[in-house]
Amino acid sequence: MAKPDYEWIAAGEEWSEPWGGSAAQWFGSILPRIQTVLPANAIVEIASGFGRWSSYLMQHCNHLHLVEPDAQGMDACRRRFGSDPKISYHLNDGRSLEMIPDGTIDFIFSFDSLVHVRRETIEAYVSQFAAKLTTNGMAFIHHSNLGQFAASVSRRARALVSRRKIAGADHQRDPEMTVELFRELCEQNGLKCLCQELVNWRGRRLIDCFSTVARKNSKWQEAPGPYRNPDFMREAELIRRVAQHYPQITA
Ligand SMILES: C[S@@+](CC[C@H](N)C(=O)[O-])C[C@H]1O[C@@H](n2cnc3c(N)ncnc32)[C@H](O)[C@@H]1O
Repeated sequence: MAKPDYEWIAAGEEWSEPWGGSAAQWFGSILPRIQTVLPANAIVEIASGFGRWSSYLMQHCNHLHLVEPDAQGMDACRRRFGSDPKISYHLNDGRSLEMIPDGTIDFIFSFDSLVHVRRETIEAYVSQFAAKLTTNGMAFIHHSNLGQFAASVSRRARALVSRRKIAGADHQRDPEMTVELFRELCEQNGLKCLCQELVNWRGRRLIDCFSTVARKNSKWQEAPGPYRNPDFMREAELIRRVAQHYPQITA
């Protein structure tokens, strides 16, 4: 799969348009799904980009590690957050968390990024989570579930090629990753899935998943199976409808 190119038209704010902005998306959709673990002493954000979520995460911790392989994004975050001692900037190789001290992280977060990466990259990150997390720490990872639609992907891809409309198909989700594969990778690496929410993304199919995971020996209870939520974009629409009537904040 080709590496997606990001234009950074509005520092990522453009991707929050269905929610009516990143503040509405954070407070309406993201925070309710991660509030159990906040505030946290130390947080790692994988794929921080231009800091769309970092600006909120930093308000809920004593230390925030930003991990990002793209120097353009890291530079943008340095400009945005400056020399705030609360933030460490880690330009990585797209798979390593070796710069993060073991056993120190209460929360690992990644949203709207790892949906695009290959299985090997997910595996590389997941294999390091148990070592980095504190005993009851958690990770919230937004990843692809497009693999569940593999047959229709290839049928649709063929149709699109014939119509010369390949760009934008399936929102550049990784075609191999699935909810089950992610769960297996967790199990193989000393982790358990506390919740796996399958969601639609700008369409009807549940091509994305939010997996909340913790160490096997943590106090948290494993979910028996995934939760299918076909109303995620409807949720965005409702948040947007309300948010537009209120003064907007920017972090
Ligand atoms: C669509 S942007 C989203 C950025 C940010 N999470 C947000 O929501 O605004 C995707 C980001 O993922 C980063 N990325 C791509 N491959 C990565 C990898 N293997 N590890 C970490 N970050 C990666 C890109 O450099 C880019 O900054």
